[in-house]
Amino acid sequence: MEGNNRTLFLAVILVVLLKQTKALVEEVKETVGIEVEMQDLKFKYSNRGNKESEFLINITDVNFADELRKIWNYEVDLKIITHGWISSDASLAVANIKNAYLSKTDFNVITLDWSYTASTKNYPVPAVMTHQVGKLAAEMVNKLVELNFTQYDRIHMIGHSLGAHVSGATGTYCKEKMARITGLDPAGPGFMVLMGNDMRLDMSDAQFVDVIHTAAGVAGYYGVLGHADFYPNSGKPPQPGCVELSLNVYKVVSSGFGCSHMRSYELYTESIVNPKAFKSIKCDSWYDYESKTYCNESDIQYMGDPVQPT
Ligand SMILES: *[C@@H]1O[C@H](CO)[C@@H](O)[C@H](O)[C@H]1NC(C)=O
Ligand SMILES: *[C@@H]1O[C@H](CO)[C@@H](O)[C@H](O)[C@H]1NC(C)=O
Ligand SMILES: *[C@@H]1O[C@H](CO)[C@@H](O)[C@H](O)[C@H]1NC(C)=O
Repeated sequence: MEGNNRTLFLAVILVVLLKQTKALVEEVKETVGIEVEMQDLKFKYSNRGNKESEFLINITDVNFADELRKIWNYEVDLKIITHGWISSDASLAVANIKNAYLSKTDFNVITLDWSYTASTKNYPVPAVMTHQVGKLAAEMVNKLVELNFTQYDRIHMIGHSLGAHVSGATGTYCKEKMARITGLDPAGPGFMVLMGNDMRLDMSDAQFVDVIHTAAGVAGYYGVLGHADFYPNSGKPPQPGCVELSLNVYKVVSSGFGCSHMRSYELYTESIVNPKAFKSIKCDSWYDYESKTYCNESDIQYMGDPVQPT
């Protein structure tokens, strides 16, 4: 009896959610005509010697390369870091990772701020726009490679939430595959059913794609997206220490609400400082892990920054 009630209850929720989604999709269709333009994005360059100056890379300015050449470090690799919904390059998801890298050693770091689009409260709009944002970001990357600042196999892009899909789209439009993309709890809503492979981060977007899931099935994408997908503490919310205020998917994606969703970049930041913090073993499922029989205990990776392409 109780079981039946529960099923009914779930069915009602599902119908409500589907109705909500349909209305949202209609709204997106109306707004999707809006183009994202290069001026809406901010690419800020920094390295160890220029941590604070944050040189603005404007590829439409003919003089940008001359200026950038004066400060670029040709010896080191490039990290590109971006944020999610209702967020910006000032968010901890971007700042903490950047600061952790530059505290450890030198890198060329470019933060991508797409808050002009990401700040749209109606989630499906920025979700759909991630594709165009990534396409423009790829123009910037292609330009840097063309001008010999770096090569594709020296580029690693890291994105949180919707930023993971921005990174995927960037990879799609790069002239060659970049070395690595890391998706930090890639946004789930919309990307599971409404948008296909070409819209979401997937393993074809870079030579190596690794993913950390921390709010899978709610704010985050549940399924496997990369070459190596990590599911700390089952990958689902609530993560230890988190009390989720709401299970409304749209609320949880927004940075103010998703403690588990934010945990992905906190773990990643820690893995830069402390590379052996998150020992992981290869399993086909969480069930296999819990049953402690089917996983390969000698197939070990350290989650986060130190992951080795397999
Ligand atoms: C980038 O450069 C172009 C061409 O000089 C200029 O029109 C535009 O305002 C610049 N954008 C920013 C954000 O400074
Ligand atoms: C970049 O390097 C290649 C190969 O060394 C060279 O042919 C090309 O002229 C360089 N391009 C620029 C813009 O310096
Ligand atoms: C377990 O992993 C190790 C290390 O990657 C590998 O050499 C071995 O073949 C794997 N064993 C099985 C049964 O897959």
